[in-house]
Amino acid sequence: MANRLDKILSTMGFGSRKQVKELVKNGCVTVDGEVVKDSSMHIDTDIQELHVNGEKIEYKEFVYIMMNKPRGVISATEDEFGHETVIDLLDDGYKGYNLSCAGRLDIDTEGLMIITNDGQLVHRIISPKKQVVKKYYCVLDYIITDKDINEFEKGIVLADAYKCLPARLEKISDKEAFVYITEGKFHQVKRMFYARRNNVRYLKRVQIGNLELDSKLEPGEYRELLAEEIKMIFE
Ligand code: URA
Repeated sequence: MANRLDKILSTMGFGSRKQVKELVKNGCVTVDGEVVKDSSMHIDTDIQELHVNGEKIEYKEFVYIMMNKPRGVISATEDEFGHETVIDLLDDGYKGYNLSCAGRLDIDTEGLMIITNDGQLVHRIISPKKQVVKKYYCVLDYIITDKDINEFEKGIVLADAYKCLPARLEKISDKEAFVYITEGKFHQVKRMFYARRNNVRYLKRVQIGNLELDSKLEPGEYRELLAEEIKMIFE
């Protein structure tokens, strides 16, 4: 797909449109081996080769990132209190992409975070209507009961009287479980257990749809998703 050269280069982190214009004017940019001087020209990066100062530029319209979000980091693009955000953890090359998070995780929650500039994908992941299941691993302060499992299945009523959609609670041990939910209300998993007089001590999102968090990613690490992995979210 064809895009303006200045848009491509500023998205790729080469500065503002003005700075990119200067870069192009100075002869630093080639298209298919020819120096170009007009930063408003359109180029199709699927078929044309772009170099800046001899370095090949791989432009993609959409970027899809899987991150293992660490504790202490905010899952937003910016934070009014100056906390570090997941976007701050990314390489500078991603900074121009106008990325956002597909669903929020609390500051103390770890795990699978999808970061993309594809707004439609974000909507499909977070909309409860789409029924994409999010799986969380939880460690609780108190023993999980059979009654808890039944109540999760019926739909937990939160302290503000909101009735959650039916959720699966899968006990792993007395105080450990997987929870499967299709919606993402504020502090949802914590509030669901709170409604059962229990307390979440540790929370990690491990799966979205059929896409599991890559176990090789340490907290704070990330990688781009493969096309087949993006499909797995909705399978
Ligand atoms: N539920 C929570 O309580 N917190 C999260 O971060 C995600 C789901």
